[in-house]
Amino acid sequence: MSIFAIYTLLIGSLSFISAVSSISCKFNVKAKQALLNEGFHRNITYRIVFNSENDKDRWLYEDCMVSLEQTLPPGVFANPDELGELRRTHRLNAIPKNRVNVELPASQSQPSTVFVMGSVVQSKVSLWLPVHARYHHAKSGGGTQRNRIDPPRLFLRCADRRLELCARAPSASFLCNGSSRENCSWMLVPFLSLTDSLIWDVPVGNSDSYYMVAIGTAFVIFIGATHLLKAIHEYKLRARMKRTS
Ligand SMILES: *[C@@H]1O[C@H](CO)[C@@H](O)[C@H](O)[C@H]1NC(C)=O
Ligand SMILES: *[C@@H]1O[C@H](CO)[C@@H](O)[C@H](O)[C@H]1NC(C)=O
Ligand SMILES: *[C@@H]1O[C@H](CO)[C@@H](O)[C@H](O)[C@H]1NC(C)=O
Repeated sequence: MSIFAIYTLLIGSLSFISAVSSISCKFNVKAKQALLNEGFHRNITYRIVFNSENDKDRWLYEDCMVSLEQTLPPGVFANPDELGELRRTHRLNAIPKNRVNVELPASQSQPSTVFVMGSVVQSKVSLWLPVHARYHHAKSGGGTQRNRIDPPRLFLRCADRRLELCARAPSASFLCNGSSRENCSWMLVPFLSLTDSLIWDVPVGNSDSYYMVAIGTAFVIFIGATHLLKAIHEYKLRARMKRTS
């Protein structure tokens, strides 16, 4: 065999090996988010679908774990105690990424991040997250304060090593699940969001009406007190007149 033939064989087999050992892993994921309920306590729901038309890549994600990394604006929070209770009762696997102070008003809060996790079953994952609006200080004119909840980032992790076959998959390391402090490697999976960012308008008290109420109250107290003093005075006057007559 000539050097040239060996060379050609080598290049051929190398490209064959790399073609087999790294696949593109285009998952074609679509997700829909919604904000359910009304008032100060609401429910974000996520419906995620992997490759609906094409089943041939299903082995790559079926039974794997999805983790949504949801960032919440300062005016909205997920309660760590509530999430802990939901984890203990196996109703929801969600865990805050950072410390959350549930007492702070919106103006003194930072955005926070929550991981919401679940398994891919028949190419689908349905998740939810209970969220609460923070108290907003009253402002002149009242009205509402707009909170905008952008779509989460989506990560995938399989118990076996199948995702290592994927070529140049960007990954991150964070909690394996809500019930352990251990970190795992997660693969970032881009998805098509079929819904816009969620908008939540929270009512804000009107500070103008507080002043009106305060002035009104002071006025009523003043009138009442004057009336009372006058009555006492007249009573005393009458009593004195009775004594002198
Ligand atoms: C949020 O919505 C999901 C899906 O409809 C439901 O399973 C869950 O119980 C709801 N959670 C709350 C707190 O309402
Ligand atoms: C897990 O990763 C986070 C950063 O993503 C880091 O702060 C934490 O210390 C890690 N925990 C362990 C047990 O390695
Ligand atoms: C959570 O992750 C840890 C570490 O990988 C694992 O040992 C444990 O079984 C997991 N727990 C659940 C409920 O998945």
